[in-house]
Amino acid sequence: MLDEGLPPSENAGDHQDVLRMTSIRELFGTALPIIQAPMAGVQGSALAVAVSEAGGLGSLPCAMLSPEAMRAELDAIVSGTAHSFNVNFFCHTPPAPDAERESAWRNALRPYYDELGIEIRSVPSGAGRRPFSHEAADVLSDVKPPVVSFHFGLPSADLLQRVRSWGAKILASATTVDEARWLEARGVDAIIAQGLEAGGHRGIFLSEDLTTQAGTFALVRQIVRDVRVPVIAAGGIADAAGVAAAMALGAAGVQLGTAYMLCPEATTSAVHRAALASDAARHTAVTNVFTGRPARGIVNRLMRELGPISIVAPQFPLAAAAILPLRAKAEAQGSGDFSPLWAGQNSSGCKEVPAAELTRELTARVV
Ligand SMILES: Cc1cc2nc3c(=O)[nH]c(=O)nc-3n(C[C@H](O)[C@H](O)[C@H](O)COP(=O)(O)O)c2cc1C
Repeated sequence: MLDEGLPPSENAGDHQDVLRMTSIRELFGTALPIIQAPMAGVQGSALAVAVSEAGGLGSLPCAMLSPEAMRAELDAIVSGTAHSFNVNFFCHTPPAPDAERESAWRNALRPYYDELGIEIRSVPSGAGRRPFSHEAADVLSDVKPPVVSFHFGLPSADLLQRVRSWGAKILASATTVDEARWLEARGVDAIIAQGLEAGGHRGIFLSEDLTTQAGTFALVRQIVRDVRVPVIAAGGIADAAGVAAAMALGAAGVQLGTAYMLCPEATTSAVHRAALASDAARHTAVTNVFTGRPARGIVNRLMRELGPISIVAPQFPLAAAAILPLRAKAEAQGSGDFSPLWAGQNSSGCKEVPAAELTRELTARVV
């Protein structure tokens, strides 16, 4: 409940909303209605442990982890906290390699390879981002994480059943009311309403039409009215007033990513940290040039010159491979020109403070 002196009816809108507000804590067994957003590439177990220990729900992003790395990170979480935590996966369908498209993409990038003195032959093979699989489920089944979340829809019914078999709660992102309905019909325990302000990949999966993407408060309110499961607000929320406001609209909890990126427990790179702490962070856009799928990041040279949306970029996640050598060379020179500087529209909540402290600050207006 909010502690701002408003009667519950004005805080929450209606009785159903009041019930939802308490349910996220019951659902996850957490003291606080906060989820630290899983953020592949900028955090691992340390951030998840710190947030779970502080009473929120810490998350481990697994999209870029091998099964061995996943196992090690899960071991670190289990030995670091006895509290609830979330393990997160992408569930895209890997595309068939398309030699023509790859060659057009390399041609578009060739001037940058020449400028940085890199051989285009050095492009690594492999997609770099894996969807949830039976191999990953094998690793999970040893640990039995209490919460598992999915981005880009849901995995196949048999994979979902494996996750359900040990009693895990299932979360998934929706970016439209249609996606929320689709997820509810498949039995998810809660829906993350990911507004257009959010940093990182858009979870959009039923359409490719970006005109369907709404801001967080517009989306949360519509989804709350349309589905019966608890709704978690995500995107552009960065302080205690924002958390309280999302819950006043009927959200049962809030998922925050960008706000945690400067915490010492995050593994955010030096160029990414510098960009987040600078005026550059005021300029973000949704781009597909880094992976092939729309994602929000701080505008940089590659986005300005080839995007933000490029029709040449190969399908997700194949666009990423040819960016890697450029990124590595530029970052070694202190430049973020070719790095995906994922961030939401509101970086004002980014603080270089321990994640536990930030988690407590974020919940100062909810009890
Ligand atoms: C750096 C970064 C990486 C992200 N990676 C993932 C991910 O691996 N899985 C996922 O479900 N969401 C990912 N997201 C999206 C978050 O789950 C969430 O929707 C978003 O952070 C909320 O918006 P905010 O950043 O404005 O708080 C990422 C976001 C950021 C900023």
